[in-house]
Amino acid sequence: DQAGPVPGRRVVLAAPRGYCAGVDRAVVTVERALESYGAPVYVRKQIVHNKHVVQSLEAKGAVFVDELDSVPEGAMVVFSAHGVSPMVHAQAAERNLRTIDATCPLVTKVHNEARRFARQDMEILLIGHAGHEEVEGTAGEAPEHITLVQSPEEAEQVEVKDPTKLAWLSQTTLSVDETLATVHKLRERFPLLMDPPSDDICYATSNRQAAIKQIAAGSDLVIVVGSANSSNSVRLVEVALEAGAAAAYRVDDASEVQPSWLEGVRQVGVTSGASVPDDLVEGVLQLLQQHGFPAAVEEKLTEENLVFALPKELRRDLRRDV
Ligand code: F3S
Repeated sequence: DQAGPVPGRRVVLAAPRGYCAGVDRAVVTVERALESYGAPVYVRKQIVHNKHVVQSLEAKGAVFVDELDSVPEGAMVVFSAHGVSPMVHAQAAERNLRTIDATCPLVTKVHNEARRFARQDMEILLIGHAGHEEVEGTAGEAPEHITLVQSPEEAEQVEVKDPTKLAWLSQTTLSVDETLATVHKLRERFPLLMDPPSDDICYATSNRQAAIKQIAAGSDLVIVVGSANSSNSVRLVEVALEAGAAAAYRVDDASEVQPSWLEGVRQVGVTSGASVPDDLVEGVLQLLQQHGFPAAVEEKLTEENLVFALPKELRRDLRRDV
């Protein structure tokens, strides 16, 4: 096992990968809240969709709840990066909860677009996956105006009230190509369909998909690090397969990599979803080295420099601390 790399093998590491600006902000928000207010800090839903991140924040005193009725009256609660519907804000106010909203600003942007189209009395076709927290939050902005479209197939079937007053929006973490196909189908049926004012699929989702696409075709195996409930991580597996990877799997960490996947493999591509800390990727690279693969070579498609300011409620309290 430890005899050094087998000749002809390669590990290519995609970049950009891992943490996006919205996830970084949400995780730091919970950490700062714990430091400033002390444990427990309640968090509605998983702050970001990564099992390891959630466990490490739990160890520091964060308490994750599914709904606000599990939060004691008057306590502090953080809303996750995926966003919440106005109804959740109202419930929090009713129960006198102190809230910090860690919704990613790029999700908030989609909420604003939904409200604006609804004010213009447009019907909105929201492309996204049923049951995902982000979709629930966005749809909650204008429930009577929004219809969910989950795929190009559904785009062929969906019924609308008035095809002349129609717009589309999307979840931020979808497959760029599949969403284009869905919009294409919709526009064939409804030529007057209006576009969002700017792309709803976020920069991090698009960049991670473009970066793995570059590597996938030459790879016998692609390993995507990310949790099962992470939309953008699951999309990376699909994108890698569509782009020509012979096989692609998602793992939460190195312990889930099956040795049988590595048999006969020359090139392994590695990437990670937007909610994944890089030490989990490092663990996978080390495991590959233990199985006769060389150190990874990074292929960087583009630089990412975006940083979001912390939520304003938290910044206000941090200023007071000083
Ligand atoms: Fe925001 Fe995109 Fe990350 S919407 S949380 S920057 S995956």
